[in-house]
Amino acid sequence: MFESLQAAKADAILGLIAEHRNDPRDNKIDLGVGVYRTPEGHTPVLDVVKKAEQILVDTQVSKTYIGTAGAADFNASMQALIFGDEAPHDRLTTIQAPGGSGSLRVAASLILRAAPDTTVWASEPTWANHIPLLGGAGLRLKSYPYYDTDRHVIRIDEMLSALRKAPAGDIVLLHACCHNPSGLDPSEDEWAAITDVVVERGLVPFIDMAYQGFAKDLEADAFAVRHMVARVPEMIVSSSCSKNFGLYRDRVGTLSLLSADEENRGIVDSQVNNVVRTIYSVPPDHGAAVVSLILNNDALRSAWLLELAEMRDRIQSMRSLLADKLSEKAPDHDFSHLRRAAGMFCFLGISAEQVAELKKDYGVYMVDSSRINVAGITEDNVSYLAEAIAATLPA
Ligand SMILES: Cc1ncc(COP(=O)(O)O)c(C=O)c1O
Repeated sequence: MFESLQAAKADAILGLIAEHRNDPRDNKIDLGVGVYRTPEGHTPVLDVVKKAEQILVDTQVSKTYIGTAGAADFNASMQALIFGDEAPHDRLTTIQAPGGSGSLRVAASLILRAAPDTTVWASEPTWANHIPLLGGAGLRLKSYPYYDTDRHVIRIDEMLSALRKAPAGDIVLLHACCHNPSGLDPSEDEWAAITDVVVERGLVPFIDMAYQGFAKDLEADAFAVRHMVARVPEMIVSSSCSKNFGLYRDRVGTLSLLSADEENRGIVDSQVNNVVRTIYSVPPDHGAAVVSLILNNDALRSAWLLELAEMRDRIQSMRSLLADKLSEKAPDHDFSHLRRAAGMFCFLGISAEQVAELKKDYGVYMVDSSRINVAGITEDNVSYLAEAIAATLPA
């Protein structure tokens, strides 16, 4: 049977990680992989996570299955974190999911049950895994314009006009904050305009929130979710704790579904739990139990907020440091768009040939689109990096 298979296409990022690992140069720089890193190049276990894990080890009395929806205390705390106090919680269902990716996949299956002929509109560009993840589940996908690669701004007018043409009932996939890959998020006014179109056209917002707390703060980063939840009858929100709690491999996230009324909420709740049963039966518990301990203990929560702010501040300062160094080393080129980005990612705005040259001649690794993860920058490597980039630019 397996003889009929062809090798799957290699994952570009995984290939890049391997190439970087095998590069013997001491001054090599990895701007490809999508995880937070300290100046020492580590993706650490947060101190607060270690503390919560210790409590868990000391107090956990069973590892029997949790239900399909996961732990109720985790779900309630996450719902409050994402939607705030004002949301119509009586119309919301939140379930624990195996990371943001698991959440997206469950959402895809639920959408297919509810509206098999619908189309999901994703930003052009979007996170590389959105398309295979949602498309692989069987959803039909189309794209709306988002990033202007020449001017490095959001193509807001074109985005709105594309959405105005989408048929009622179609789904619009949006990034709550730290748009991956561009780093450019709509302003509050732009979110209001997007919401107007969503409401006018009867579209269903599907918000992917993988970076809450990585752009401005927990509240501001939830603006789009909270603005829309107050105005639309139905909505889908996937969240991930991979980045903001550093729990990547523990697979922690949620899927939240807003129903038009309380009665329908019960039906949606039963269907989404049924979907879970047919995919992975029950979600992993360890990371979610850690998050729940942190969110429900004042001291742990305050400690988490400090560590989250530390990650966010480092990312922001490295991005602006690179922008400073580039204006010094390449004064004839405009990299000011780096300062407008939020989160770990942004496009450098150079060609695939220049990306290849950076890798070959300078040991600087990034994906072909020139999306960089600024968490790979340090005070020690930023001058070398800016000089290398400057050397590849046309005179
Ligand atoms: C936009 C976006 N959504 C979802 C995810 C999925 O995160 P997780 O690791 O929790 O599956 C990522 C991870 O990089 C992401 O960038």
